[in-house]
Amino acid sequence: MSDQGWLADTRTSYDTVAVSYAGQLRDALAGEPYLRAILALFADIVHAAGGGPVADVGCGPGHVAAHLGKLGVNAFGIDLSPAMVDVARRDHPGLRFGVGSMTDLDLADASVAGLLAWWSLIHVPDDEVPTVFGHFWRVLRPGGLLLLGFHVGDESRLKTQGYGGLPMKVHVHLRQPARVSAWLRDAGFTVEAQMLLDLDESVAGAVLFARRQP
Ligand SMILES: C[S@@+](CC[C@H](N)C(=O)[O-])C[C@H]1O[C@@H](n2cnc3c(N)ncnc32)[C@H](O)[C@@H]1O
Repeated sequence: MSDQGWLADTRTSYDTVAVSYAGQLRDALAGEPYLRAILALFADIVHAAGGGPVADVGCGPGHVAAHLGKLGVNAFGIDLSPAMVDVARRDHPGLRFGVGSMTDLDLADASVAGLLAWWSLIHVPDDEVPTVFGHFWRVLRPGGLLLLGFHVGDESRLKTQGYGGLPMKVHVHLRQPARVSAWLRDAGFTVEAQMLLDLDESVAGAVLFARRQP
C-alpha cells in the first residue's frame, strides 16, 4: 500500500465518521477513571517540568485536548481529518486545532513541552513509525514528555465500517508495548512507564510514557 493510499483512506474514513464519532466519544472520559488518571499524571508531569504547549496529535474531535485544558494544560490539537478538525473547533472554540499528519508534522523543532498520540498511531503502518517518532522527538523540547495510547496485539485489521455503520477503509495496527518501546528507544526516547488496560477485554490497551532526554 502506498503512503498516499493509507493516508488518503484514513483521512476519508475519519471525515465520513467525524460527526458520529464525536457524538459517541464526546463524554467517554467520564466513564474511564483509569484514562482520566493517566491524563492527570501526564498533566502533573508537564506542569512540574515548567509547563508549555502540548500537542494532541490525532486529536479527533478534541475531547482529550479539552480535558487536558481543564487540567490547566496549554493543549492544542492536530488531526489528519479536516472534518474532525471542524468538529473539534465547533465543540471546543477556546482551543486551537489544525489539519496535519504525524508523518510530516508541521511543528517547529523543540516547540512543545508534551505530546500525546492517543489511539492515533494505531493507523500508522510499521514502516512509517520510525519517521513519526523522529518527528515527535524533534518537536519535543529536551526533557519533554510523550504519551502514547494504543491497542495491544500482534495483527493488523481492516476496519470497513464504524460509528453507526458508516463506511470506513482504515487499517488498525495492534502492537505489543515492548515493540513500541524498542522503536521509541531507537528514536532517542527513554521509556519511563508502561500501563496495561482492559486486560479481560478482547483488545487490551497500553499506555507508554517516554521522555526526550534533556
Ligand atoms: C481512533 S481516532 C482517536 C481520536 C482521539 N485521539 C480519541 O482518543 O478519541 C484516530 C484519529 O487519528 C487520526 N489520524 C490517523 N492518522 C493520522 C495521521 N497520520 N496524522 C494525524 N492524525 C491521524 C484520525 O483522523 C482520527 O481522528
